[in-house]
Amino acid sequence: MSKYSKEVIHMLYQYHYEYISGQFIAEQLSISRTAVKKVIDQLKSEGCQIESINHKGHRLMQLPDKWYSGIVIPSINTQQLFKHIEVFENVDSTQLLAKQKLVGNTDTFLILSDEQTKGKGRFNRPWLSTRGKGLWMSIVLRPNVPFDMITKFNLFMALGIRDAIQSFSNASVSVKWPNDIYINNKKVCGFLTEMVANSDGIEAVICGIGINMNQTQTDFDGELSQKATSMRIQGNKKINRYEFLQLLIQQIEYRYAQFLKEPFATIRQEYIEVSNIWNKQLKFTENGDQFLGEAVDIDDNGYLIVDDEHNQQHQLMSADIEL
Ligand code: BTN
Repeated sequence: MSKYSKEVIHMLYQYHYEYISGQFIAEQLSISRTAVKKVIDQLKSEGCQIESINHKGHRLMQLPDKWYSGIVIPSINTQQLFKHIEVFENVDSTQLLAKQKLVGNTDTFLILSDEQTKGKGRFNRPWLSTRGKGLWMSIVLRPNVPFDMITKFNLFMALGIRDAIQSFSNASVSVKWPNDIYINNKKVCGFLTEMVANSDGIEAVICGIGINMNQTQTDFDGELSQKATSMRIQGNKKINRYEFLQLLIQQIEYRYAQFLKEPFATIRQEYIEVSNIWNKQLKFTENGDQFLGEAVDIDDNGYLIVDDEHNQQHQLMSADIEL
């Protein structure tokens, strides 16, 4: 990739819907017009639809389904949450990479990739992370809190992610406690929260978020076609990945600040209202044990209260639930 492609794509994106001349770009970046032309040709070859008209300039018509750090970084950097942001075309798993990169420093950061070849879900399940179709991201945060606060962190994140998806959806978006987001009874997003902790508290929280943005029905085979969906399938409209990412990060930032200041009780009612687990028979797996039951409440600590089929009450901190 050319040294200046980050800056050029950023300028084209900033001024999209307008023509900007090669001369203007060259002056802004203190490079030659030939260098500008080279970068623009390269961006075109990557799939950027750029209209170039003599004496008028260049106009970005459409971006390919790809993360450009030149657009991602300026649009997220208006916030204070991350010290650095890294964008990849292909990784095994953003979550694995984040865990490698957090060692030996105290940085907060975000990793985003167009594709994951070994995307991983909860309970080590594989997570399908097709190139260009979804948002595959891990964030590393360093809250200065005791390690048992991780459950609470997860609950706040769920609302942030849900609210971002809801802003792009006409249908109602719900949370399936503790880690899934659903639209119309199908899973549109899963996230997982892991941590590195010592006796003094949390060293790092690593939150991996997978959101199906732009898959069409044919992208989901077999069992997945029954269980999974995408924002695009539900809304019948392709999602602008950059606009969505920006909003998602704003929501995460808002909920993270709230998590640091407020008890779960502050968001309990809101959480209950957007949850999709009420009034139905559910199958629970907790630490390898399975039972049937009905979720009846979420308490002030975020624990799920379940009455099982033998009228025993359970207080769950985490579990796998089948709807
Ligand atoms: C689940 O529903 O089981 C959680 C899925 C989490 C998937 C995301 S995609 C980005 C990050 N990298 C991974 O390998 N997994 C998480």
